[in-house]
Amino acid sequence: MTGRVLITGGAGFIGSNLADSLAADGLEVLIYDSLARPGVAGNLAWLRRRHPTRIHVMRADIRDAAALRAALDGADAVFHLAAQVAVTTSLTDPEEDFAVNLRTSFVLLDLLRQRSGGPCPLVFASTNKVYGDLGDIALEKRGDAWVLRDPAVRGTGIAEGRRLDFHTPYGCSKGAADQYVLDFARSYGMPAAVMRMSCIYGPRQMGTEDQGWVAHFLIRPLRG
Ligand SMILES: NC(=O)c1ccc[n+]([C@@H]2O[C@H](COP(=O)([O-])OP(=O)(O)OC[C@H]3O[C@@H](n4cnc5c(N)ncnc54)[C@H](O)[C@@H]3O)[C@@H](O)[C@H]2O)c1
Repeated sequence: MTGRVLITGGAGFIGSNLADSLAADGLEVLIYDSLARPGVAGNLAWLRRRHPTRIHVMRADIRDAAALRAALDGADAVFHLAAQVAVTTSLTDPEEDFAVNLRTSFVLLDLLRQRSGGPCPLVFASTNKVYGDLGDIALEKRGDAWVLRDPAVRGTGIAEGRRLDFHTPYGCSKGAADQYVLDFARSYGMPAAVMRMSCIYGPRQMGTEDQGWVAHFLIRPLRG
């Protein structure tokens, strides 16, 4: 990859780690983020310290189509990570979840489709919630840990051919956006990929009871 990479939600947990890695590889990174998630401004400060010349920031809401269009200008690749990320919040405010996760993903896709210049690769952060509650996947206890019983699933995860079964408004908004991305790749030949991730955890994660539980379980005791 060369040139300038746009990361929506780039101040967040996954986005800031990705921005760090891309900037370390010598790429220019434009972070587009509203800083809606408490604490993520600290991730931006960390990135700016590490890469003073390569990290650029645009503070804007992903629902601001004019700002998004401006951010896409000159982007050579896009990672779309900005989202309403919590299942709990999606249940209390499904309309906001729909607007942030599905409507804006569609707007972004359509802006990319209509953009002049060469094709711009897109990676979209989807979720394992598109597969439902996965209640049929057997677990077993080994020592202190619960592990997946099927060695194939344990080794490589859920196969992407598994039947879709969106659960919760968050699962629906992410899952519908996931399908739009795959279909725009098919219908318009856009170079795009979807990652259906499960509970990611790691440094720079502002885990709370609503989302980012592994981090949450570690942060709470550390804070007493
Ligand atoms: N962390 C996980 O376990 C996990 C699992 C599956 C999918 N995902 C997806 O990966 C992506 C990144 O997740 P994360 O864990 O880094 O979350 P995060 O909350 O740390 O990052 C999301 C970023 O988006 C920004 N944002 C939120 N609403 C916005 C808006 N309206 N406009 C602009 N920016 C906005 C936030 O400020 C934040 O910086 C999300 O799309 C999430 O749904 C995460």
